[in-house]
Amino acid sequence: MKSAIIPEKVFYIGVNDRTTNKFESLWPLPYGVSYNSYLVKGSDKIAIIDGVEVSHALEQIDMIRTISPDRDPDYLIINHMEPDHSGGISILRQAFPGIQIVGNNQTLAMVKGYHGLTEGTVAVKDGETLDLGGATLKFVLTPMVHWPETMVTYLEEDKTLFTGDAFGCYGALNGAVIDQDMDTARYFPEMVRYYSNIVGKYGQFVQRALKKLDGIALDFICPTHGPVWHSQIAKVVDLYDRLSRYEPLDNGVTIVYGSMYGNTARMAEAAADALAQAGVRDISVHDAARTDLSYILADLFTHRGLIIAAPTYSDSLFPPVAAVLEAMTIRGLKNRSVAVLGSHTWSQRAIGIIEQGLEALGLEAVAEPVNGKHSPSADVLEQCAAAAKALAESLQVGK
Ligand code: FEO
Repeated sequence: MKSAIIPEKVFYIGVNDRTTNKFESLWPLPYGVSYNSYLVKGSDKIAIIDGVEVSHALEQIDMIRTISPDRDPDYLIINHMEPDHSGGISILRQAFPGIQIVGNNQTLAMVKGYHGLTEGTVAVKDGETLDLGGATLKFVLTPMVHWPETMVTYLEEDKTLFTGDAFGCYGALNGAVIDQDMDTARYFPEMVRYYSNIVGKYGQFVQRALKKLDGIALDFICPTHGPVWHSQIAKVVDLYDRLSRYEPLDNGVTIVYGSMYGNTARMAEAAADALAQAGVRDISVHDAARTDLSYILADLFTHRGLIIAAPTYSDSLFPPVAAVLEAMTIRGLKNRSVAVLGSHTWSQRAIGIIEQGLEALGLEAVAEPVNGKHSPSADVLEQCAAAAKALAESLQVGK
């Protein structure tokens, strides 16, 4: 059993998943993932805050019985109904038949839809509180972070905020739960990747939530994935604020390219060389047909610069690059400096499609697109270098 987060009051009852390869069947989990859940003990009542994925439900029930052998939990607070947290609700209800399910109206509609449960539920509104006896839970609705029912729960006496997916990250917990008890270096890139993969479309709603919560005193942030934040709260809040404003985290450049026979790849390499010579130090080069989209998105949300290089394929845009462009469009990526490199043999459609996509996002290229034909000539490679140099200048590297 993990140590209590707040002695005698807030206990970690989450689990690690080290066997699922892809989160949501989409996003790789090289370090696993944790499904965090918490038990809050008041003098009168006990609440569970968020659950775990269904295959871990029995493990969680064991933990609950170990922490509280003589009293069953009274409430299950649901901040977020996505099944990685709510899959075990039916099993929890079977184990603890008296447990009341607490959520907002949208949550309870999903509880009915997913689990067929309509009895023993408590609907809460924005700002309402629930007194557990010396432990007051206040519910704050934060819709669309990243589902419509999302809310956060604030334990007033202990300045502890249970935030659902917000401030969460990929990566199982390797022993410790609270940031101050571990090396958190691995978790920050995984937070950016999680955000860019899953929450990235909803920046404006994250901003609304951050504004709504602004000024609340925070001792602990307890998300549904990854470490509990205590000593690094300012850092994670700042990171979330920047990501949700689509503010780049650095002046690096992401190069995303597709290449069937190596010609577009040579153009991308020429651009990377020129960027390095211009002083750009953080350059990520991704072959879109090989790097998982998850990591490309993380770099797109990190770096200010972006070069897209692609051939025309089947009189359209090379599909793996089209997938990246679509993912950018879905998330409404903003505030990037961009250059475009295209390559073709007989149809020149790729560049136009990329430009349309960028225009829809309000992103303007810093230079004319480079349009290579057949194998790139020395002149085309020089144009790629020139476009990269213009991009580097737009980033004001070193200034
Ligand atoms: Fe961790 Fe949106 O579920």
